[in-house]
Amino acid sequence: MQTEEEELSALQTLIRSGEFRHSYEVGRKTEGKVFDRRTLLNLYTAIKNFGIESVDYPISSGKESIVFKATKKNEKVAIKIYRMSTLQFSNIEKYIAGDSRFERERRDRSRVVFLWARKEYANLIGMTNAGIFVPRPFYLQGNVLVMKYIGTESRPAPMIKNYDPDPEDSYRQVAEIMKRMYQRAGLIHGDLSEYNLLYYRKRVCVIDVGQSVSIKHPMAMEFLERDIKNITRFFIKEGVGANSESLLNQVTQDE
Ligand SMILES: Nc1ncnc2c1ncn2[C@@H]1O[C@H](COP(=O)(O)OP(=O)(O)O)[C@@H](O)[C@H]1O
Ligand SMILES: [Mg+2]
Repeated sequence: MQTEEEELSALQTLIRSGEFRHSYEVGRKTEGKVFDRRTLLNLYTAIKNFGIESVDYPISSGKESIVFKATKKNEKVAIKIYRMSTLQFSNIEKYIAGDSRFERERRDRSRVVFLWARKEYANLIGMTNAGIFVPRPFYLQGNVLVMKYIGTESRPAPMIKNYDPDPEDSYRQVAEIMKRMYQRAGLIHGDLSEYNLLYYRKRVCVIDVGQSVSIKHPMAMEFLERDIKNITRFFIKEGVGANSESLLNQVTQDE
């Protein structure tokens, strides 16, 4: 029988080796990835407890997180791992302070990363319950979040930035998403743009909601206005007759 230490190091070797089931951009996207011990333990625990059978390929590797596609029986999942080291504190602090749901947490480094993951998990649940198309969250272990994978077996859904055959329709969908987020979930995305919207089977899916805040947050309106600016800027560029003022009214006014 393998000890936990051995299993962990086997997992680490596997992840570092880039030997995934598929070769979707493995080389470029796994470059320079090194997990710390706690992350590996959390990943290991998540894989074991949630029953993940294979970690298939990396989808994305950013400054703050790494996302993998993985498989559990017939379910395709995405594993988002928040980096323990490079999260920008000054930046995330303002989203957490002022959000009464999470305000009492202590501020030391690793706890903030775990809190960030919990915040994304809670926001995904809130948005799912509000009828918004987001990846349904399944499991959380420290800085490791398991959620529904959006895409086909071999390719994750593209960002609308890279693929949007019908911008008019997408704009309508995004306006409806923002309205539901505000009115039903009581949340503001906070980093909404063509980078955090995926296009899947003609539907727009919202991702990356760790920074999303309650509409009661002192900077809520500021964040909402910035989201609206980004969205209208993108869709105007795509030839849609989008307008910040009317979008703001649409989002905030009762039906
Ligand atoms: N559930 C998911 N299904 C498919 N792809 C995903 C999923 N979640 C994230 N991705 C991909 O991973 C990328 C990074 O995820 P995101 O949550 O935006 O993290 P960040 O931008 O903070 O690194 C996304 O742009 C998207 O391409
Ligand atoms: Mg993102």
